[in-house]
Parts: sequence; structure tokens; C-alpha cells
Amino acid sequence: MRDAEPKTIYLKDYKPFGYLVDSVDLTFDLSPHATRVTSRIAFRPNPEAEDREFFLHGEKLKLISARIDGNEITPEVTPEGLTAEAPDAPFVWEAVVEIDPAGNTALEGLYMSNGMYCTQCEAEGFRKITYYPDRPDVMSVFTVRINGTLPVLLSNGNPKGKGDGWAEWHDPWPKPAYLFALVAGDLVATSDSFETVSGKEVALNLWVRPGDEHKTAFGMEALKKSMKWDEDTYGREYDLKVFNIVAVDDFNMGAMENKGLNIFNSSCVLASPDTSTDMNFERIEAIIAHEYFHNWTGNRITCRDWFQLCLKEGLTVYRDSQFTSDMRSAPVKRIHDVIDLRARQFPEDNGPLSHPVRPESFQEINNFYTATVYEKGAEVIGMLKRLVGDAAYAEALDLYFARHDGEACTIEDWLKVFEDVTGRDLSQFKRWYAQSGTPRLKVTEDWADGSYTLHFEQTTLPTPGQPEKLPQVLPIAVGLIGPNGDEVLETKVLEMTEAQQSFRFDGLAAKPVPSILRGFSAPVILERETSSAERAFLLAHDTDPFNRWEAGRSLARDSLLKMATEDAAPDADYLDGLVQLLRDDTLDPAYRALMLGLPGQSELAGALAEAGQTPDPDALWQAAERLRAAQAVALGDLMMPLYDSCRIDGAYAPDAEQSGKRALGAALLRLITRQDDGAVAAAQYAAADNMTLQLSALACLLQAGKGHAELAAFYDQWKSDRLVIDKWFMLQISEAAPEQVAATATALTEHPDFNWKNPNRFRALFGALAGHHAGFHAAGGGAYRLLADWLIRLDPVNPQTTARMCSAFQTWKRYDSDRQTLIGAELERIAATPDLSRDTAEMIGRIRG
Ligand code: ARG
Ligand code: ZN
Repeated sequence: MRDAEPKTIYLKDYKPFGYLVDSVDLTFDLSPHATRVTSRIAFRPNPEAEDREFFLHGEKLKLISARIDGNEITPEVTPEGLTAEAPDAPFVWEAVVEIDPAGNTALEGLYMSNGMYCTQCEAEGFRKITYYPDRPDVMSVFTVRINGTLPVLLSNGNPKGKGDGWAEWHDPWPKPAYLFALVAGDLVATSDSFETVSGKEVALNLWVRPGDEHKTAFGMEALKKSMKWDEDTYGREYDLKVFNIVAVDDFNMGAMENKGLNIFNSSCVLASPDTSTDMNFERIEAIIAHEYFHNWTGNRITCRDWFQLCLKEGLTVYRDSQFTSDMRSAPVKRIHDVIDLRARQFPEDNGPLSHPVRPESFQEINNFYTATVYEKGAEVIGMLKRLVGDAAYAEALDLYFARHDGEACTIEDWLKVFEDVTGRDLSQFKRWYAQSGTPRLKVTEDWADGSYTLHFEQTTLPTPGQPEKLPQVLPIAVGLIGPNGDEVLETKVLEMTEAQQSFRFDGLAAKPVPSILRGFSAPVILERETSSAERAFLLAHDTDPFNRWEAGRSLARDSLLKMATEDAAPDADYLDGLVQLLRDDTLDPAYRALMLGLPGQSELAGALAEAGQTPDPDALWQAAERLRAAQAVALGDLMMPLYDSCRIDGAYAPDAEQSGKRALGAALLRLITRQDDGAVAAAQYAAADNMTLQLSALACLLQAGKGHAELAAFYDQWKSDRLVIDKWFMLQISEAAPEQVAATATALTEHPDFNWKNPNRFRALFGALAGHHAGFHAAGGGAYRLLADWLIRLDPVNPQTTARMCSAFQTWKRYDSDRQTLIGAELERIAATPDLSRDTAEMIGRIRG
């Protein structure tokens, strides 16, 4: 059965469900193609609701029997659910349904992965398990019995009992159905325990397939650190006797915060020095923290409806970024986050998929698990904290937890705790949740008689469905630096509320150089006419580490744009400043590695489009090649000694210090390889005793058109490790020359290991294809065609992953008419595919505009 006619759901239509659920009892009789789910649910009329219609969601279920208060009934069943006559008094609903986990390739609901049963219910997967009011504002206590022959049978909450072929679980905390989870498999645990602040013992288990046990230690440590951090920083204690984490190979997203039973994409939890890079380790630590933190921000306090998704996701991303800043380097984390925001959120916010942090309508909610909801949602919380201050933020959070524990909330509830704590009116601030698009912040200045004035003007361009924009509250962190390089004004947060606003600083001895938007204090596009000399000055003197990096970044950006469009030479101020910084041994190697980075090709294309020009992917590629070559020349004799100084004696550790050194070493190796034909890279590859060094060496070799022997050896060494083979797929595409990209990707789709139904493998290949800007947009459109072919093929199998990958086309209107015609034809071809999923149809419809 295919999805029914797409319906649009609106925030303004929210109505509570007519019944409350007092308890849910589920029994699973597991069988790959015919699992029986027996439910016994106690309903009672909801006094807050007017409408008493008894509709239960249910999709792809075979209804065997249904009873109300013991009497067999025949409900009216549609592809979306069922309706029955229900009493206007408490009653018990009982149903038996049959489902097909082994046939569930969409990986939503109950499905199978390598012989293991596993669930993913957020957002609307529970309705594929049994009939239920599958909405987050319906919360209940669940008791689960699993009957099955597999050795490990898990569900939410605390274990209640187990025997041969069965296990029972009880979760005392009322929860919405999207937090339900069940796992059954032949799994092994790494176990540990944690004593909470009030002295309660929690059993911790990280479950994996036999053979993966050596990849669990890091995840377990990250979990314990997260538990401790949330007690210390937010006063949040864990609330069950056990905390289980399960790794699964087939998973659409990163991980899921099911109550007491987090389920992770194995790529986001399994780690070992041999098989994982430093970046993998850092990401795994952050995701473990993220899912754990959801126990309070998401589970104890959940969302009233899916429009409020940012209530839990924005806040939890914000919390996990605070955690990473505390565990590692705060400036480095901030820079990583801004790079990521510009790479993923800005294109979304400024293109056809633009939507508010709190959307007002959707067809398929899975399409709104976006960088806007998550990452811009986190930025909004950062701004709120900046505006009210740390103390008020802490007080507001305490009030939030105290007031709303056990509830399903809205953004209004969230803002109200800040209003109550601070006495502020946050109605204008709320526009951050309602208005889509990235504000442009234009800055000019005046200087006279010791007075320095900054004039700001904010504008936000129209976005789909929002032609008019109102001014937003912008916390603008500013510092002023005197001509000798000393700071004359320490960081001060200016609060801009008008479309145009000026701020004056008096009593200055000389005209200062402003450092604006320190720490990236608001997610805006800053526009300021300034000289490269002034940027170079900030690169040398800014005391704010973010803005110091930003000065170098903007120099590099402008230089690349001029090189691409005017055939200019590389900017000398940039190169001089870079050399000075790299020489400075007092600077963190991780920070210096970031300084060597260049803005991404897509970001540059976006900047050109922003300025009304048509980006030429080939010219941008050439510009970056030339600037890299110029970096290598400018650094010259500095490179080898610096590279050598990044070598680590002693055991590998994925900590910030070692990772920083390896990151700097890798950035230098890229440049060295341009000059030595890969000699140093080949040596690094041969000597590498961890994946970070091995992979960075291989990347350099491939980029130089070498490394064929190493590539083959790498495959041989790792062919039985699926996560490493994902890297093998990815790397060959991302390091290919632009004109080779489509052919390389095509050849890889024919490789026997291209298991396209596995989302990690599909994303490894096509994510790399879409991420190689010049290769994806290479003349002729071969890459566009290849991607479209495979999206069409994957859609009936896994709509969610297909729909996410469609965003590769979201920037298509930036490019020249030839490319637009080619992409337009592919979009049309996808749209015309019979029986396209609701997920993909919505995405393609929005992208086409
Ligand atoms: N709540 C999960 C997280 O952010 C993400 C689950 C998304 N799942 C989905 N099917 N859209 O931690
Ligand atoms: Zn989350």
C-alpha cells in the first residue's frame, strides 16, 4: 500500500486528543515476517478536550482483533489508522496486530538489521507497531513483555523479570510513544555503573554485535562524563536503575534518545583508535552526550506537537555543545560549530527549503529534522543566554525543569520561564522562532572628536511563505582595539532591536578597529566594507579567538572570490598573517589547523550568489587550488619542522591536545604533498598506527593522484569493518579531481560492497558526491543524473534517507542556466516517478519552488 494523498498539517490547528492514556501494556511475539503485537491500553476521557473522536494511528498493520472492555468490535480502518465508537467513560482497548519487521526496509517502526530486531519511533514510527494515539502530547506508563528466542531482549525503563525466551520491562516515567523502544538480538554488553549525586546506583550497558566489543570503551566513558556533567552543570540526575545503549548498523539518523534505551547508528557510538578518526571520537562523545541529555530535555519534558521539535532539539544541541566546550577547547568548538552552521544551515535558510526554527506547517515531519531546527535552534538559545546573562539562564532552566517536569510543552512555555525570571518581554525575541531566513547585518562607522559610532542595519530577504520580515533582537558582542593592538573596549553585548540602530563609544584617544560579532554572538551574515590591512590587523591582534579566526577566514574568502572572478593573485596580507600565526607556538595547534582551513567551495558559491553573481564551480576550484599552492609557498621552510613537531610520542589518545596536533599535522601534510609528490604522505601512511594518521595520509595521496597501492591495501586491511569501508567509499570520491568524480562514483555503485539499502553506505557514496562541489557540478551533469537515478531507486525502499539526500539540489538556482536546466530536468524526473513517497515528494516540491 502506498502513502495516501499528501495532507498539510498546521500548527494553528492543534487540538488535544479526546482521551488520556493511563497505562499501556504491550506483548511482542517476535517473528521476522509475522510479529504479533498485543496491546492493552487504558483510556479515559480528556477533560481538556472538546472533541471525543476515537481515532488511533496505525500504518502497515494487519489487524487481527480489537476489543473495547472485552467486547470484540469492528473498527473503521484506513491506511492511516482506525476509528471506533468509544465510551465517554474510562475503558480498556485491546488489539492484536501482525507486522513484518524483516520486510521493513524504511527502518521506521520495528525492523530488522543483521538478524537483530530494533525500533525507531520518532517521529511517527510507533503507528507502524500498533494502533495508538501516536502524538507526543499523549503520555503514558508502558509495560512491555517480549517473547522471542534471541538471547537479549530489551525495552524501556527497568527490568521487571526474565526467563527462557521472554523478558518484561516497566518504565515508570510517563512518555509519548515516540520514545518507545525494543531491541532483541544476539548482543554482547560492555557494562559499568554510575553513582548519581544522590547516591543511586545505575547499571550501564553498551550492547553491540559480537566482534565489536573492542569498540565500546570510549562510548562508555563518554556516557559517564555526560551523566556527571549534567548533574554538575544543570542539576539533572538520572532517574532509572539502568541505562542501555545499543549500536545498530542500519539506522536512518545518528541516534535516538528512547527512555532508558538509547539506540545508536553504529557509526555514532563504536570507536577504536585503529578504525576511528579523531573527528569520529569527538562526534561520538557529543552524540552520546546529546542523547543522554535528552533524558531531561526531551523525555521528562517533551514537545506538545512536532512543530515544537526545536524545544527539545535546539536546547539539547546547545547543551551538547556546552559539554564539548567544557571537555575540549571552547574556541575550537565554537569555530567548528560556525563552520558547520555556514555549511549546512545557511544554504537551507537562504534557499527554497527555508523554514522557521519552529515551522508552521509540514507534510512529512521527518523532513523537518533539519539544521535549522537543530543548529539554528541551538543558536537561538545561545542568544537568549547572552541577552539574559548566565545567572538568569541558570535560574530560568531550574524553573523550566521544576514547572514543566512530566509535561508536553511549547516554545511559549519555554520563553515564559525566561520572562518570569527576568521580567523581560520576549515577544520580539520570539521572532527568532517564527521568521525564517538569515538576517544580514550591515555595519558602517563614524569617527570624530574621540567618539566612535557603529551604525547597524538589519535586513532579512523574503523566504518561501514569508514576504515581509520584521527586525529581530540581535545580541552583537563588540570589542574595540586601539592602533597599537591593545584592547580599548572589552567585549560588550550591544542589544539591537530596531531595523537601524547606532551605538556610540566616547572618550577614545584614537580611532579604534572594531571587532564585531565576537564569538559569533548572533547567527547573521555580517557585511562590512573593510580593507585587508584592517583584517590582517585583527588577525594579528584580536583578543577574541573566534574573531581572530574569522578575520583570517574572511581574508581567505575575499581572496578566493577575487581569484575566481577577477583572476586576482592570492592576497598577500592573508598569507603574511597566516605565516605569523603558524609560527606562534603559544597558539593551540588545533586553532592553527583551523587557521589553515579555507572556506568550503559551496560557501564561496553562496557568497557569490548573495552578491548577485553566478558562481563558476570550475573557477572556484581553481582558485582554491592556487591559494593552497600559495599557502605552501608562503609557509615554505616552516612546514616540515612544524609537521614534525606534530608527531606524538606515546600512546594514542583521542583527546583535544593530541587531536589538535594531528589536525595541524594533517593540514600541513596537504600542503607538503603539493610539493613533494607524496613522499611524506606515503611515509606517514606506512608508519600509521591509528586511523587518523592512516586516513589523512591516504587522502593526501589520492588528492595528488597517487596512492593506488595504498588504497588497495587499505581495502584489504579493512574489508570486514563496515564503518571503515564507508570511509573507503567516501574518500575516493571526495579526493577525486572534479572531472573524475561522477565516473568514480558510478564505478563504486557497481562495487560488491555497495550495499545501497544501508543508509551509512548510501550516504558515504552520495554524500561525498554531493559534497564535492566542483565534481557534483562538473559540466554535462553526469553527477546530477547519477544521484537522481539512485534517489529514484532508493525511494520505495527508504523514503526518509532518500528525502534527506534530495537537499543536494537545494542550491540549484545559484548556478548558470545550463546547470539549472540539467538539474531542473532531474528534479522533474524524480517528481514524475510513480508512487513517490510523501517524504520525497514534499522535498522535491519545495526545492523546485
Ligand atoms: N531525536 C533524535 C535526536 O536528535 C533524532 C531522531 C530523528 N528521527 C527521525 N526519524 N527523524 O537525537
Ligand atoms: Zn536530539
